[in-house]
Amino acid sequence: MMLNWDDPLAAPIPRVESKPAVKKETAEPIARDKATETTTPDTTEAKGHDTEASQSKTATPAAQEETSAPAADATEARAAKTPLKAVPFATEALDAPVAESAAPVVEKAAPPARAVADSAERTPMQQRREAEAAKPFTPMSPINPEDKRVINGIGDINQLAPFKYPWAWDFFINANKNHWTPLDVNMTSDISDYHHKLKPEEQHIFENVLAYLTTSDILAMRNIGLAVMEKMTAPELQIYQARQVYEESLHTWTYQHCIETIGLDQSEIYNRYRMVPEINQKIQIGNRRLDAVMRPDIDLRNPDDLEEFVLSYAFFSGIFEGCWFYNGFSPVFALQRRGLMKGTAEQLQYIMRDEVMHVSFGIRVVRQIMQEEGVQLDPRDIRDMWDEAEAAEMAYSKFLLPKPILGYSQEDHHEQFRFIGNRRARQLGMEEPFPGAKNALPWLDEQSNMRKEKNFFETRVTEYQTGGALKWD
Ligand SMILES: [Fe+2]
Ligand SMILES: [Fe+2]
Repeated sequence: MMLNWDDPLAAPIPRVESKPAVKKETAEPIARDKATETTTPDTTEAKGHDTEASQSKTATPAAQEETSAPAADATEARAAKTPLKAVPFATEALDAPVAESAAPVVEKAAPPARAVADSAERTPMQQRREAEAAKPFTPMSPINPEDKRVINGIGDINQLAPFKYPWAWDFFINANKNHWTPLDVNMTSDISDYHHKLKPEEQHIFENVLAYLTTSDILAMRNIGLAVMEKMTAPELQIYQARQVYEESLHTWTYQHCIETIGLDQSEIYNRYRMVPEINQKIQIGNRRLDAVMRPDIDLRNPDDLEEFVLSYAFFSGIFEGCWFYNGFSPVFALQRRGLMKGTAEQLQYIMRDEVMHVSFGIRVVRQIMQEEGVQLDPRDIRDMWDEAEAAEMAYSKFLLPKPILGYSQEDHHEQFRFIGNRRARQLGMEEPFPGAKNALPWLDEQSNMRKEKNFFETRVTEYQTGGALKWD
């Protein structure tokens, strides 16, 4: 169906049917019974409206509004003996929540919003808005960039320049040079490779890499978009992070595109993290770090909360993205080196290019916060973080590679995690957690670096002109 993107109701909002009223033997609170009784007829009527709306492709906005108005509004309208069509179109209705399992009980019909607005009685909220709007303009002194801080700053978050962190702006500019979508990559050979050339143990690896990544990238998106971005007090940092949020969602689209194109069982792949403890464990470690800082009462002026936030950001950039993603793509790159699953591998190369920037940016922000706020992390917390991450990665690699495939083994995967872990720790200004770890996959850095001249396989070359200017790691 071709949507009119300028019409918010072009695609009717599906109504969720209320559950049928079930009279339980046990005593139910009166309010619950009331709700059930109120919603049941609404649902029937609403269903009729939905059908009508779907049959009429030329429905007017007002008529479409009818179909999307919450059940409570409909009840209200009937109570006032007013036909639904007579309700004036009000844009406020677009913001109204879609009814879910049951509409709220309406004790008393509220006056229509327009009537309130027109009446002489102003609500406290309206009075407050009017008072704010009536405040006279007072010229402000210019921004001093030195007032800016990564967190706990007092600068004007809406004013980009003058910069205090010009490097953050450079990250944003560079990120926009790596612009791509999964539709740019030819996936044709992957379909036959997966179904006709991969051995069962290679299919197992391929599927579980995707099963891990699908959930991980959503977690990465939620972390940066919901827990980190809101705490930044310099706009140049937030702007790159906004781009990062977009890129994480693009990565999720990429995995979904691979799963659909190759014809894998979508539901089974997505649910695997719920079934496989070795995948679930890594996700849960990320979830715990996210939950620790995504709470309304966190106060970054409190030293304990601040340390928790810095640890979480260090974990996500240094380990979750810096090791688990960096290392997580390598089994598919190993297949690519043998000429298999080249389309998926190329998709992962594009993702890798984004992730390398996320890692560098995140680590830089962490170091900046530690310097500005004088944060000293407890060495025991850092050690625990690395030990937990290594144990989880070890278990994951055993599950992924119960026996080696050509050119890749469990030991390679584990050792490479330790090697990359040391790199991230050095970048974070920390001691190496795994002294003496070897570079078990010397081709990985080169493979990750998708420059045209180093892309030795016969994938479709989608080198963007500006992409070669990016620096890696
Ligand atoms: Fe990502
Ligand atoms: Fe990322």
